[in-house]
Amino acid sequence: MTPRSFPADFVWGTATAAYQVEGATTADGRTPSIWDTFCARPGAIADGGSGQVACDQYHRYLDDIALMAELGVKAYRFSIAWPRIQPTADGTLNQAGLDHYSRLTDALLAHGIAPVATLYHWDLPQYLEDAGGWPARDTAARFGDYAAVVAGALGDRIDTWTTLNEPWCSAYLGYADGEHAPGRRDHPAALAAAHHLNLAHGLGVQAIRAQAGGTARTSITLNLQVLRPATDSAADQRAVAQLERIGNDIWLGPLLDGRYDERLFSDTAHVSDWSFLRDGDLAQIHQPLSLLGINYYSSSTVRQRAGAVPPTWPEAHSRPWRGAWPGCETVEFLPPTGPLTAMGWNQDPSGLTELLLSVHRRWPELELMVTENGSAFDDQVADDGSIHDRERVAYLAAHIEALGQAMAAGAPVRGYFAWSLIDNFEWACGYTKRFGLFGVDFQTQARIWKDSARWYQALVRTGQTPAADPAD
Ligand code: FCB
Repeated sequence: MTPRSFPADFVWGTATAAYQVEGATTADGRTPSIWDTFCARPGAIADGGSGQVACDQYHRYLDDIALMAELGVKAYRFSIAWPRIQPTADGTLNQAGLDHYSRLTDALLAHGIAPVATLYHWDLPQYLEDAGGWPARDTAARFGDYAAVVAGALGDRIDTWTTLNEPWCSAYLGYADGEHAPGRRDHPAALAAAHHLNLAHGLGVQAIRAQAGGTARTSITLNLQVLRPATDSAADQRAVAQLERIGNDIWLGPLLDGRYDERLFSDTAHVSDWSFLRDGDLAQIHQPLSLLGINYYSSSTVRQRAGAVPPTWPEAHSRPWRGAWPGCETVEFLPPTGPLTAMGWNQDPSGLTELLLSVHRRWPELELMVTENGSAFDDQVADDGSIHDRERVAYLAAHIEALGQAMAAGAPVRGYFAWSLIDNFEWACGYTKRFGLFGVDFQTQARIWKDSARWYQALVRTGQTPAADPAD
């Protein structure tokens, strides 16, 4: 691959999320989130693990920042655990929890690393789930309060705010499919959750701007779906369009254009009457954004099931809900084709180029940031203690080249965050999947340089992609 150069001010970073790395789940007044509860449910997590200890970053953040400084990254995307900030149902501020993020932020700044803070990376306080969770409207208002508290305290130091990480996962994996916390399977509730997440974002942006000033940089991170039709038949194209509406436009429409596509209502008419959508909500959601964060890992191929017709309302409501995609009973996903990552996901770098360009064509003024991209492989520690993760290096190289192609074609992408800084708790997969540039020995908490970290270090230092194989 010919080396590709990136602009000098391009932001190279790494990303993590609170529940995946922090551990210390009862320290300094933190109370349970839906993930603590979900992890205790037998069978919910592949290896029975939880985030109770994870990478212990709550205590080791200075060591991890030192690693990032050595890596040379300019930004760290971390998330703030809501149940550390407001651990009780009355929403009282827990100063000790807030102080942790204040120290983390200061330490990043002292190392010249820009703090990119996500307010919600899936760890809803359990007391809010007990009160209805995201399907309940009040959760959005509570998020607005939480955002105001954090922005009031850290607003002068955070480089970029991200309200929500991947609301697709919160709504559909959490409430439709049940693979993620809180593990509910209720498609009408999942659609209400989607809307209330949008509303939470809008209220959050307003709170950040009110507290941190109108120049605060605000964003949201979406895992936009790249969907390919199995054939070029009209039916398969329709399947793609329907999934794009429920997977992508349900966020992009209200966030960026202040409206829901009417077809979203007809696609899901047998699931929900959308009575949770109230007058004035779209204006609350449609707030100015400094940039859009995009997470990309893989693409999917889909088709319309032959002869399938959507169920009617009584049928749909009279049997258990299945799958992550509300209203999409007649559509099916084809098995991914290899080579796959350890997650079973395909590797399709061109999907990243296409995705960035398609968003850019629709919203030419909008700045973009790749807020997550990376891969899990079954890393082996060599006899000399090192990890030679050639496949991850190749994945990174191919996707960063794809990013470069999108930028060369005009997409205004300002940064890229490798997922992840370190191996960590990979949600329902527990500790069985490793995404880190650094390995973690979970017995000793030692961080181990992988070849991918060396490769990324060379890229960050020079602004130019090194040879894909570090041995070359
Ligand atoms: C994304 C999540 C992130 C991580 C990666 C692998 O969906 O945002 O926390 O688990 O997948």
